[in-house]
Amino acid sequence: MTALPNSEFSKIFYSGCQLFPSEQPCCPLLGGTFLRVLFAQDILELMEKLVRGSCLHYDSYDSSSGVDFNELRKVFSSGLTDGQAYRLTESIEALMLSLKAYGLTQTTRIRVGVIISDECRKFHVDHLSKRFVLTPIGKGTEWIHPEDVDLDFLEQSVRTGRDMGLERFNQGLLRQGREVRHLDNTTGLLMDNSQRQSRDHFSEIFHRSPAIDPTEGSEPQDVLGRFRISFDCD
Ligand SMILES: [Fe+2]
Repeated sequence: MTALPNSEFSKIFYSGCQLFPSEQPCCPLLGGTFLRVLFAQDILELMEKLVRGSCLHYDSYDSSSGVDFNELRKVFSSGLTDGQAYRLTESIEALMLSLKAYGLTQTTRIRVGVIISDECRKFHVDHLSKRFVLTPIGKGTEWIHPEDVDLDFLEQSVRTGRDMGLERFNQGLLRQGREVRHLDNTTGLLMDNSQRQSRDHFSEIFHRSPAIDPTEGSEPQDVLGRFRISFDCD
């Protein structure tokens, strides 16, 4: 990672978060953009505190009926002081506003917070106009580079419509000798399907949630989760 000048660090501190074009190449052929997201150190510590404080429940905010930052702040207040919850909420808002410059102009749903389950382990595509996903703490989203997708397998699976089970599908989808990739803590992925004429399974980014590693803790309260942020645009 390239060192940032001091002025950039000041900006990150005051807004809580800054967005930069990533040094990684974008997905070819796709509306997928990698963005480098840097949070201020104190913000990362707040996220970490929420993750560590989480036990058997989701400390997560899902704005399925409109984005409300007051509601988000209330969720954070369960594990942080009011001042800390305010600071963290502001940084998430700053991130959302910064994403407008990259085409996420109308966020219709945000999901932010601690995830402690495996969630969806099957590779899938999201049928949304745009989605941004970032995991600042914990394991990031796993994804398959389009060139690594076994298109023959995929075509057959879509044509037959047969449910072959999670493991077989995940294995078959990845071409032999290729590897699943994952997003690191400072790389957000903006998936953009808005320009696509027809929505099919052949030109979108297959991804899944990472597995929670049982070796990270033997008791539920010791299991480290992750802090994930996603913004959707229908
Ligand atoms: Fe998804």
